[in-house]
Amino acid sequence: MPVGVYGNMPKMDELIKIAEKNNVPLIEDAGEAIGSKYKGVRAGKFGVGSTFSFHRTKTICTGEGGILLLDDKTHYDRTRFLRDHGRSPTDGYYMLEAAYKYMPSNLQVALAYAQFRRIEELVNKKREFLHMYKERFSDIGDLQFNIESDDVYNGAWATSLVFGKSHNITKKEIMEKLSKMDFPVRPFFYPLSSTPAYSGFKTGDSKKNPVSYDISNRGITLPGAFILTETQIDEYCEGIRKILRK
Ligand SMILES: Cc1ncc(COP(=O)(O)O)c(C=O)c1O
Repeated sequence: MPVGVYGNMPKMDELIKIAEKNNVPLIEDAGEAIGSKYKGVRAGKFGVGSTFSFHRTKTICTGEGGILLLDDKTHYDRTRFLRDHGRSPTDGYYMLEAAYKYMPSNLQVALAYAQFRRIEELVNKKREFLHMYKERFSDIGDLQFNIESDDVYNGAWATSLVFGKSHNITKKEIMEKLSKMDFPVRPFFYPLSSTPAYSGFKTGDSKKNPVSYDISNRGITLPGAFILTETQIDEYCEGIRKILRK
């Protein structure tokens, strides 16, 4: 399950080759990549299926929930069956298998559909935030925002900022200082294997995954709610600049 973190896209053609060679189905976790493209192809178009999240911080938000996209009719029929108590397709009160209840409510779907119809506008707004932040820090070196390589159009679900080592500051320090100035703060993601919930999975640790452990320690996620004003972005950036100047 390749993940498009912060709207970036993994190197999909290389991953597809590996999946095909090893006969492993590839499912795209495009939860953060709505509106993103890899070599001109939209996130959600790769592999046997893909998922998007519509939870509270996402570009499309239905409170909770998400969507599963499938091209294959067999998978589609099977998941449609599993999501609603395993009911018989011909008799809604007759359960063929003990299954799940993963149905979105009509209200959630109406919300999602209304936002989907203006998805270009919503993604453009997210990208505008990313570029506003980038521009406001363009005179300061050694800062890494969401990567926008030639192959990727980044939907910029959230703007992340990783402080280069020359700034000699950790995410904990920067978050504490921003909090003291009364700014909302969110950390950069943690490597899953560093969290208590997944510490039992010995597939990763700081020695095996030095890059993710290192980046996570130096990054934050910047505010990106649709109601954010340019003045608020200016104030937030000024707060970060003050911290970096000290
Ligand atoms: C990449 C990614 N995958 C999966 C999820 C989980 O989505 P949900 O909370 O809608 O189950 C999220 C966000 O929460 C996410 O960002």
